[in-house]
Amino acid sequence: MNNIKIITSTTREGRKGIAVANWITNLAKQDSTYTIELLDLAQINLPFMDEPNHPRMQQYIHEHTKQWSKSIDEADAFIIVLAEYNFGFPAPIKNALDYLYNEWMHKPVAFVSYGGISGGLRATQMLKQVVTAIHMMPIVDQVNIPFFAKHIDESGTFVPDEALTKSANAMLKELERWSESLKAMRVK
Ligand SMILES: Cc1cc2nc3c(=O)[nH]c(=O)nc-3n(C[C@H](O)[C@H](O)[C@H](O)COP(=O)(O)O)c2cc1C
Repeated sequence: MNNIKIITSTTREGRKGIAVANWITNLAKQDSTYTIELLDLAQINLPFMDEPNHPRMQQYIHEHTKQWSKSIDEADAFIIVLAEYNFGFPAPIKNALDYLYNEWMHKPVAFVSYGGISGGLRATQMLKQVVTAIHMMPIVDQVNIPFFAKHIDESGTFVPDEALTKSANAMLKELERWSESLKAMRVK
């Protein structure tokens, strides 16, 4: 089973990123042959990393980590829906990444970032460096959404323009290619 998991990066009350996450999730469900699942960090509600052992050991003592491990282990590829906080990545996504190690390994990750004029580009560049430490493959094709709030309508739905839909479809296609290729790296 091919499986793409889409992960949010923000958890604050009233966050807008969920609109972007819902958009890319629905688009992927339409256009991909993969099983698509949205992992919303606000709902998953991980505490600050509280495991006593290095994640590489996989000796998890907390139930929340065991569940997070199982969910990430199932995935073949990821899309991180990334906000930019103070020119960097928001803490919840870094925390969620830090919890695990092997479960991320040799899997491709794409970014859908959003923000003001930068469209979350600075956060994306920073997080790309982090994901390489856990042996993920950050792919080149990404979707960066400047002034993203202007795409959110009164009902809170993200309404893309043609260029965004096109770049999202290109990213999804490339993510699937990487996902297929990296399977060989994950043969146990
Ligand atoms: C703490 C904080 C820092 C922010 N810093 C940036 C920033 O550096 N660059 C940017 O483009 N937007 C920045 N913003 C504006 C966010 O792009 C905007 O609030 C967005 O909705 C944040 O995502 P969220 O709603 O999913 O939390 C910041 C927002 C917050 C709350």
